Formats: sequence, structure tokens, C-alpha cells
Amino acid sequence: MAFHHIQYYFIVLLMATFLTTHSNAELTPDFYNDVCPQALSIINTIVRQKLDFKPRMGAHLLRLHFHDCFVNGCDGSVLLDDTPNFIGEKTAKGNIDSLKGFMLVDIIKAELDKACKGPVVSCADILAVIARDSVSILGGPSYWYQVLLGRRDARNASMKDAESYLPSQLFNLSQLVSNFESQGLNLKDLVALSGAHTIGMAKCSTFRERIYNDTNIDPDFATCLQDNCPLHGGDDNFEALDFLTPQVFDNSYYKNLVSKIGLFHSDQELFKGDGSESDMLVELYSRDSDAFARDFKASMIKMGNIKPLTGNFGEIRTYCGKVN
Ligand code: HEM
Ligand SMILES: *[C@@H]1O[C@H](CO)[C@@H](O)[C@H](O)[C@H]1NC(C)=O
Ligand SMILES: *[C@@H]1O[C@H](CO)[C@@H](O)[C@H](O)[C@H]1NC(C)=O
Ligand SMILES: *[C@@H]1O[C@H](CO)[C@@H](O)[C@H](O)[C@H]1NC(C)=O
Repeated sequence: MAFHHIQYYFIVLLMATFLTTHSNAELTPDFYNDVCPQALSIINTIVRQKLDFKPRMGAHLLRLHFHDCFVNGCDGSVLLDDTPNFIGEKTAKGNIDSLKGFMLVDIIKAELDKACKGPVVSCADILAVIARDSVSILGGPSYWYQVLLGRRDARNASMKDAESYLPSQLFNLSQLVSNFESQGLNLKDLVALSGAHTIGMAKCSTFRERIYNDTNIDPDFATCLQDNCPLHGGDDNFEALDFLTPQVFDNSYYKNLVSKIGLFHSDQELFKGDGSESDMLVELYSRDSDAFARDFKASMIKMGNIKPLTGNFGEIRTYCGKVN
């Protein structure tokens, strides 16, 4: 009897060891070097071609990776269409009619599968690479970093999880901090990653409350934006997230915050002029673009490491929009 217990114990121990080693498999920059050495250059070529005539696409692609990682890890779940088994993240509040770039992801995936003779590059990894490519194409070589690879794709997704894990632009600083902390990201990551709002656009419905009700805002800026974002109607009218250089990935987002012209309530929460730790980081990044580039890249790698599926978990999808 005792002997059987010991045998049983060993089998459980072996399984546990197997599971942990596999789930903890580390991402590596050279994951596709043997199986598809041309993968990264194929992705870069397509992203570059697209951004050359549509820079806004870079903002779409960067945001896709963020929304993927914050909902049960960087597992490509954000790309899944609804099925009879689950309602996915695409239709979640905050994503619906807002997240874009899915078609380009599908095009990249098809080109990769053709070149690699089969589905070897995961959709989750594609999102990580196109985010990096977008940032470095729109920002220049100082924003280039090595992307860690080897993520696999989820077989399900949850609208409910997207709605509970993605931060809202109405959040205050402590809500933002705890939202990021629940992902293993600290205040510095929060401030650095928010610098992504140096590119892209937002709808009137997302910043209306700020330009009519916030006090921590430059009053001329508020009045100016009210033209294109009336109290009633015009919900889908767009404004640039970075008023100064909307199509360049740079540190001007932080200059805006210091001038109280951040677009979202959540953006301006990072700088209130009260000398807090968050204020100091915003000030640092506003005057030192190298410090911003360094910290942004480090935090992107950290975000890209949120709960990846590795080893035998998940799958390599054939189509990014549906499970195999
Ligand atoms: C800190 C909390 C954050 C909040 C509350 C937030 C919220 C938002 C909102 C409301 C929009 C506008 C959506 C629309 O109008 O359709 C937006 C756009 C955007 N966000 Fe964030 N975001 C946050 C952090 C991030 C992070 C960490 C990244 C990437 C690393 C990011 C990347 C972007 C980009 C690039 C856009 C522009 C998208 C486009 O033009 O298509 N955001 N964000
Ligand atoms: C996805 O599927 C796994 C395994 O079937 C399950 O444990 C997990 O809770 C599911 N996740 C969601 C978001 O439904
Ligand atoms: C932030 O918002 C939460 C939820 O509304 C609230 O409980 C908290 O008091 C706020 N914190 C600050 C510092 O305003
Ligand atoms: C401004 O705040 C008031 C009081 O909370 C609220 O009723 C109103 O809807 C807000 N206005 C906007 C544009 O959000």
C-alpha cells in the first residue's frame, strides 16, 4: 500500500515537474532562427510598406499587443473571433469599433506560413514583433529592441476578461497603478508604457469628460478640443493622442503632460504637478528622450513576458482569427 503511494507520489511529482518546466519555458530572441530564419525580415518589410503610406497603422498594431498581453497574457487571444463556445475580446467594451489592424495581421500570417512552409510563427509572436517594428519605424533606431519569441496561441478568449483587465481612460492614478500591478508591472512600467500615447488617435467619446469636467487641464486646450467634440453628438470624431507630433514615436507625450495637455484623464493622472514619484518620471522622460527610449523598451519586453503559453501549451494557429 505504502509502496503504491510512493509510486503515485513520484508520478505526480514527475508530471508537476514536466508541467512547470514547460510552462516556464523562456522566450528567446532566436526562437525562429532554425525553423523560419526569414520570418522577422518578412514581417518588417510588410509593416514598413504599410506604415509608409499609413502611419496610423503603427498605433493600431502597438495597441493590439498591449490589449493581447493584458488579458490572460500575450497569447494572441485578442485576435480570436467569437465562436459558439466563447464570446471573444474583440467585442468587449473598449475594443469594439476601436481596435484595428486585424487584416494586416492576417496578411502577415499568410505570408509567413507561405515562406515558412507551414504555420510555425504564432499569432502572439506576430503581435509582439509588429508592435516593436511599428515603434522603431515611427521613432527611429533608438526605439529598436530585440523581441523575445516563442509564445504560442490560446485556444479560447473571454469578453468578460477583456472588460475586467483592460484599464479605463477614466481611471485615477491609484487605479492605474493597481491595474498594472496585477499584471506584474510597476509604476515605472506604467509611466513608460503610457508613452505609447505619443502616436495614434482617440474618439471624442473617450475624452469628452476630460475636456468638459477635468480641472487638471490647460483651459485653452480644453476649449479648443470642444469644437470637434461637442457635449452631444460627434462621439466618433477623432483627436490625436499627442497634440505635438501625432505620427512620430518620441517623448512629446510627456511634454504634453507637463503642459497639462494630455488627452485622457488617465494620461494626466501621471502628472499633477505635486512632485510625486509619477510626476518625477514624467518630468524625466519629458526632458530626456534617451531615458524614455531605454525604459519604454525595457517595459515593452516586460509586458511581452506576461504569461506566455510555451512548450506544449496552446497551439500555433493557422488563421489568427480562429483556433485550429
Ligand atoms: C495606462 C492605461 C491606458 C489606458 C487607460 C488607455 C486607453 C486608451 C484609449 C481609451 C484609447 C483610444 C481608443 C479609441 O478612441 O478608440 C487608446 C488608444 C491607444 N492606446 Fe492606450 N491606454 C492605456 C495604455 C496603453 C499602453 C500601455 C499602450 C501600448 C503600449 C497603449 C497604446 C495605445 C495606442 C497606440 C493608441 C492609439 C490607437 C490608434 O490610433 O488606433 N495604450 N488608449
Ligand atoms: C480557456 O481554456 C482553458 C482550458 O480549457 C481554461 O482553463 C481557461 O479558464 C479558459 N479561459 C477562458 C478565458 O475562458
Ligand atoms: C480613485 O478611484 C477610486 C475608485 O473610484 C476611489 O475609491 C479612490 O478614492 C480614488 N483615489 C484617489 C486618490 O482619488
Ligand atoms: C460632468 O460631471 C457632471 C457631474 O458629475 C456629470 O453629470 C456630467 O455628465 C459630466 N459631463 C461630461 C461631459 O462628462
